[in-house]
Amino acid sequence: MPANTNIPKPFYITTAIDYANGAPHLGHAYEKVLTDVIARFQRLCGRRVHFLTGLDEHGQKVQQTAARRGISPQEACDEVAVLFQALLRGLDITNDDFIRTTQPRHKEIVRRYLRQLHDAGLIYKAEYTGFYSVRQEQFVLGKERNPDGSWPEIYGEVASITESNYFFKLSQYQGWLVEFLGENPDWIFPRFRQRQVLEFLKEPVNDLCISRPKERLAWGIELPFDPDFVTYVWFDALVNYASAVDATGLWPADAHVIGKDILVPPHAVYWPCMLRALGLELPRRLIVHGWWTLGGSKASKSTGNASHTLDLAGVYGADAFRYYVMREMNVGQDSDFSEEQFKIRYRSDLGNDLGNLLNRLLNMGARYSGGSVPVAPEAFSGDGVPERELRALWDATAPQYLEHAAGYQFHAALELLWGFIRALNRYTEHRAPWKLGKSDVPADRVLLEACLAHLAEGLRLTAVALTPVMPRVAARIQENMGLSPATSFEGQLEWSSRAAGSRLAGKAILFPPVDA
Ligand code: MSP
Repeated sequence: MPANTNIPKPFYITTAIDYANGAPHLGHAYEKVLTDVIARFQRLCGRRVHFLTGLDEHGQKVQQTAARRGISPQEACDEVAVLFQALLRGLDITNDDFIRTTQPRHKEIVRRYLRQLHDAGLIYKAEYTGFYSVRQEQFVLGKERNPDGSWPEIYGEVASITESNYFFKLSQYQGWLVEFLGENPDWIFPRFRQRQVLEFLKEPVNDLCISRPKERLAWGIELPFDPDFVTYVWFDALVNYASAVDATGLWPADAHVIGKDILVPPHAVYWPCMLRALGLELPRRLIVHGWWTLGGSKASKSTGNASHTLDLAGVYGADAFRYYVMREMNVGQDSDFSEEQFKIRYRSDLGNDLGNLLNRLLNMGARYSGGSVPVAPEAFSGDGVPERELRALWDATAPQYLEHAAGYQFHAALELLWGFIRALNRYTEHRAPWKLGKSDVPADRVLLEACLAHLAEGLRLTAVALTPVMPRVAARIQENMGLSPATSFEGQLEWSSRAAGSRLAGKAILFPPVDA
């Protein structure tokens, strides 16, 4: 891309790349949906977007899992890649690229960066004796022991080993990083996470061991300056964000979406220091979401249940799943996934509130206005108090909705939108067009047409606003109203008479009842 252009760079957004040592679960699915909602929101706001996701395929866990199954690590990764790509399709994720860290395009860049840092004297070899956790693939410090001398459970088996390895001079960037974070308090969303990083940086950080001897781990990217070693999996994985867009002009990323467990130290400490050392720009923001639990326990640990939650997307539709996770999770906080609550939201928010509203419009449009949306009567507009209130509610809702969404407060945005949807239902009950339709009084006819026109416009606006979260449902609502699905918010979120005269479908069931 030419540098001297006035066209803004596409909004470049990424997810974490998932470990290729198991099937996708709820945590993976949520992160894809969240990132997709942000990507779609940006597109509707008129930005071009580049959306990257992918798989983290190297490391000990992948090697061990493959060995247990008696297949090669690459075969194991290929199988898992199919599952993750199916997940993306199943959830209507609009990623533009899918990177796998075993691809030549990635390995080449990792080696280039390593060579550059090595040549610059920022990587050195040293002998190190320390405690090593196989499960976490990292050295751990003695002070991390429990009071009784045992190791925290997350480390699994911990052994004392002496090893020669290569180290990246991470420690020399600590002062710079602290300063950078101080000057950019919004680099990490939500803000309290940034404070946690600063807390972590109060202690001196060690240089980062970026190699693993091949005798211990063969499944990795060989160091360009020493064939006896492969690259530490985190150094390898973090580079994906840059390697995937190398020489495209897309770097820096506008947002990395990640879970709270991989903020400190990988994304908030290693990655900015690596980039700084390489002379590359930093990502503009880290968006850090919380954890889903299932009945209080970690969703990714109880894998059986966690993959069952993904079945709900198959049964109830991707949009219902997308709605549920976006409605329930306050980005940054933790949330508990409850199938019971999922079903309640499906029946009540989706079926009763939204689905019925569309059916009311289609039904009454067919019955009383020849199957099309009436024009709101001229003499009437602005006269009826309920109509005026409805329009005023939308005028207040739309900017707040956009503001919440721009600040990743999707749960609040949806809550607000549902306030409007419920107001549309109340409005319809208040006007009771089914009664007006039976009346011979001309004023009732005027009211009836006003009511249908307002209902239609309210639904149209709802569908446009809902598009990033529920793209299919939004498109279906618009299609059933004889409208083509909005591809931009521009001029589409103001109360108008855009739907007037359009043909209504006879019937639509957006959220069919699902039997247990
Ligand atoms: N491979 C590393 C990331 C490398 S990024 C350069 C990794 N993989 S992971 O498969 O364990 O996790 C991938 C993402 O899923 C992370 O952002 C993680 O936080 C997220 N989740 C995994 N389980 C989760 C929940 N239970 N809830 C929400 N998200 C969680 O870490």
